[in-house]
Amino acid sequence: MKSESQIVVRPARNVNGSVSLPGDKSISHRYAMLAALAEGPSRLENYSTGADCASTLGCLRSLGVKWEQKDKDDAGNVIDVQGSALSLAAPSQPLDCGNSGSTIRMLSGIVAGQPFVSEMAGDESLSRRPMERVIAPLTAMGAEIQSNDSRPPLRITGGTLRGISYRMPVASAQVKTCLLFAGLLANGETQIAEPFRTRDHGEIALRAFGAQVQRKGTDVSIRGGQRLQGIQARIPGDISSAAFFLCAAALFPGSQLTVANMLMNPTRARLLDILMQLGLQISVTHMDELHGELVGTLQVQGGSLKSATIAGADTAALIDEIPVLAAIAPYTENGIEVRDAKELRVKESDRIASITLNLRAMAAEVEERPDGFKIPGSQALHGAELESFGDHRIAMAFSVAALRAHGDTLIRGCECAAISYPQFFPVLEGLVER
Ligand code: S3P
Repeated sequence: MKSESQIVVRPARNVNGSVSLPGDKSISHRYAMLAALAEGPSRLENYSTGADCASTLGCLRSLGVKWEQKDKDDAGNVIDVQGSALSLAAPSQPLDCGNSGSTIRMLSGIVAGQPFVSEMAGDESLSRRPMERVIAPLTAMGAEIQSNDSRPPLRITGGTLRGISYRMPVASAQVKTCLLFAGLLANGETQIAEPFRTRDHGEIALRAFGAQVQRKGTDVSIRGGQRLQGIQARIPGDISSAAFFLCAAALFPGSQLTVANMLMNPTRARLLDILMQLGLQISVTHMDELHGELVGTLQVQGGSLKSATIAGADTAALIDEIPVLAAIAPYTENGIEVRDAKELRVKESDRIASITLNLRAMAAEVEERPDGFKIPGSQALHGAELESFGDHRIAMAFSVAALRAHGDTLIRGCECAAISYPQFFPVLEGLVER
């Protein structure tokens, strides 16, 4: 990101009010990519306002896809996409994926099935992230991929792919979606086995655009050569962004928060179970289904927070929410322990290290482990000078931790919040009472 900005967060007394979130980041990426491959036009309302989803649109434009952005009061950020009927144009320059792991990993499955060479690159953080997880299966399907020691930039020579049967070594929805997209463009059937069930937006989105996808337990398969039809969709509010407000509300027994039009997909909503287990009261109204995705309005009331252990399949389901759960952990009665989370070390920052350093700077006790941490409860934290480590979820998580600290907290490098949620800090300020 170009400009550096620091934010000072003052302690709060309560979180109160009502909020509706921009569209879910995971769904926005997938809809944009599938709209680009579909026949006919698509309209995507409430498209994510994050820079990551803009990176996906930028790459699609470089691949010859025509789209237009419209700002509509009642529909949020609206993107009109003209479908290419499965055939994209060879890019004349490297595809700039910015900070977005989702863009590079999921789009690699699409360009691998196109008869041209694509280069995919990103910023410094993305250039450190592991890509072997997509390189190995896409190579097995027939693509030729060069990389910088299994990291970006990637140079993908695409062409006719063949379906494979693949057991994923890491639980990753990005990889699963990459292979489903490649499978759509391949000859024959592609079968994918996941170690744990990960978010299923790839499968749901493919069905919304008219493809058939089969699921049996943690196995999913797709037949190549299916055609997609454009859709008119409204994207549910991002639950991973809502997580910061929900956890902020959880810090104060007097909090009352309403989150409208929020994504309630069961593969993403594990956070709500954990927050209820911790002691938050949550009720859901206005449940609806939008193109196969559940959406609802949450009414949340604060309470006193107990303790939680997150491990195995739960860790995979909560992977993006762990930073903010860690940020509220010291204020719980008996703390939070996270296991099986070594994937956090290869996110936008090494999130286990970022969490540990910032919590310790606030005088918290933290036991850091190779694949997680244990944070005791009933701790008093003080305001401190913290770093975002260029990681949007770390910047936002620690603005939540700061709300119950003694004294002010300064967080450096907060411009990175724009990666997923540019409006985050003003919206948070509008909800807190001092
Ligand atoms: C995502 C999957 C997760 C998550 C990321 C978005 C997706 O990554 O951390 O923010 O949209 O599929 P992994 O697939 O690496 O677990």
